[in-house]
Amino acid sequence: MKIEYHETTNDLQTRIDIHSKYGSRDIDSWMLDILQLRPGNRILDVGCGSGKQCFSFYHHLQGKADITGGDVNKDLLNQAREANRKIGEPMAFIDLNFNEEFPLLSDSYDLVSCCFAIYYAEDIPFTIGEMHRVIKPGGRLFTTGPMPANKQVFYDIIREATGKAIPPMPGSSRYSTQIYASIEKLFKKVETHIFENPLIFESVEPFLAYTRASLAEDRKLWNSFFQTKEDFERIMGQIEAVAARRLAAEGRLVMTKVVGGFIATK
Ligand SMILES: C[S@@+](CC[C@H](N)C(=O)[O-])C[C@H]1O[C@@H](n2cnc3c(N)ncnc32)[C@H](O)[C@@H]1O
Repeated sequence: MKIEYHETTNDLQTRIDIHSKYGSRDIDSWMLDILQLRPGNRILDVGCGSGKQCFSFYHHLQGKADITGGDVNKDLLNQAREANRKIGEPMAFIDLNFNEEFPLLSDSYDLVSCCFAIYYAEDIPFTIGEMHRVIKPGGRLFTTGPMPANKQVFYDIIREATGKAIPPMPGSSRYSTQIYASIEKLFKKVETHIFENPLIFESVEPFLAYTRASLAEDRKLWNSFFQTKEDFERIMGQIEAVAARRLAAEGRLVMTKVVGGFIATK
């Protein structure tokens, strides 16, 4: 399965900022709660982007950890490296394409994490296999991604605005069919945790900013909706009209992020 995907630096940051500004729950705290990391842990974060989880793990463990982040996107890696330099370069940020064999030794990490990225893999069993290979016996894999109930309002508004069916989203559609199945096959045990975070919008602007940053990221997935920039702007206009109407009727828009976290033990 070939998924055309390119995350831009700005789109990712826009969504991260909107989550923290309009949501009441903090996903980093949730991860830290369920993961129970220990000082001295060797951690690899795959698809680390600009390093959000690496920095969260590092600060939580007060620097007492050996953390490596890997990603295929040079811009995001540079951002992570820049932030890492500012704190004395305690972590390593490496080029890592999870569609290829990892340039890492087997049985070497206590934890491999992969947050909001695994579903872009071309061959999920292969990527999960590589993660399993580099985890120490008894070590853990942690993956997160959207569940099928994620962002209902977002999809409802787009459906109403366009009159079209929503294309299958790789995150939620691949979770149960491929990701969970591959993990369960290779690992001794898997636990599932669910995180819900209602984002409350009292005006349409942040909702529209979120929508732009989501549709632009996954533009290839939205091929049936628009091909040109003009189409994109026309669709955004329709989405704005529907969102404004709903907001006027209900007083606010509540878009709940529903995220699944799988913790698997090797
Ligand atoms: C939605 S971002 C999540 C980034 C980060 N984990 C976070 O939560 O902020 C998805 C990440 O997957 C990365 N990615 C996509 N394809 C990849 C590949 N083939 N190998 C490694 N990383 C990849 C992207 O570059 C991007 O950083």
